[in-house]
Amino acid sequence: MRTIESIAELRAAVADWRRAHPGGTVGFVPTMGYLHEGHASLIRRSAAENGLTVVSVFVNPLQFGPNEDFDRYPRDPGRDRRVAEAAGCDLLFMPSVDEMYPRPTATRVVISGLTERLCGASRPGHFDGVGTVVAKLLHIVMPDHAYFGMKDAQQVAVIERMVEDLNFPVRIVPCETVREPDGLAMSSRNVYLNAEERRQAVILYETLQLAEEKFLEPGMTPGKLAEAMRESIRRAPLAVTDYAEVLTWPDLRLPEERPFDAMPPGSRFIAALAVRFGRTRLIDNRLLEIRTPAGKE
Ligand code: PAJ
Repeated sequence: MRTIESIAELRAAVADWRRAHPGGTVGFVPTMGYLHEGHASLIRRSAAENGLTVVSVFVNPLQFGPNEDFDRYPRDPGRDRRVAEAAGCDLLFMPSVDEMYPRPTATRVVISGLTERLCGASRPGHFDGVGTVVAKLLHIVMPDHAYFGMKDAQQVAVIERMVEDLNFPVRIVPCETVREPDGLAMSSRNVYLNAEERRQAVILYETLQLAEEKFLEPGMTPGKLAEAMRESIRRAPLAVTDYAEVLTWPDLRLPEERPFDAMPPGSRFIAALAVRFGRTRLIDNRLLEIRTPAGKE
């Protein structure tokens, strides 16, 4: 594995590989580092599906709000190198903030509509920062496939929309969320939790399990389901709900308030939540789909 800090060098390394491997495909996994098993699963998938795998580690200041955790975001470049290499990374791109933003960007990618709710509402400007950095990274690496985790489902919806709207020549590959044994979604931010918060953090997973069960109850509606999720989170005394919503997937709109069992088979929804424990904000989600009744396929 080669570690590269400059944009020019990274471009040259990818171009050299493509010249030497006609018809070979390049996979790309963008990250903010402090790599865990969730990131590793994306890197392994890219390595299995492509001849060359590029991983970026860049804590992107543009996607953090003024009162968010940019300065204290966990960093461990040495461990990131080991985890990335063990998972099958060939080129590890670790640019500095100056390399990525030599001057303030006059150009921003703004993805509207899809960003009105969920994290887009709680974190104003966040997805403009994500869209802008992912657009830059995709132009620098020029991969055939780019891998994103469904833990950040709204991010997947936003990036898929951006590459469709702006004709980026890349296929976005959504990947399943990797969890701790108790169900907590792996996240670089889990290290912020103290022991008691960590015990109670399982409430996100339990709430999504409950949502999946209640979704099938006769007469259940999107609004009632979201309320049941908020009530469930209240069982964890240290948890403060930022949002708990049920929206259409993948366009992230508020569904009509009528029973799920009166909606057409194939309709898809997302149950999504963001919960604070002290200063730590955790997110998770579950996709829900109205099944075709047995015998009617
Ligand atoms: P980061 O939070 O480091 O996540 C990098 C990628 O890993 C994202 O696609 C994220 O969804 C995925 N990921 C995180 N935890 C996961 C888990 N438990 N299971 C599966 N995948 C998981 O997301 C970002 O960085 C940034 O916004 C970025 C896209 C790099 C732009 O700055």
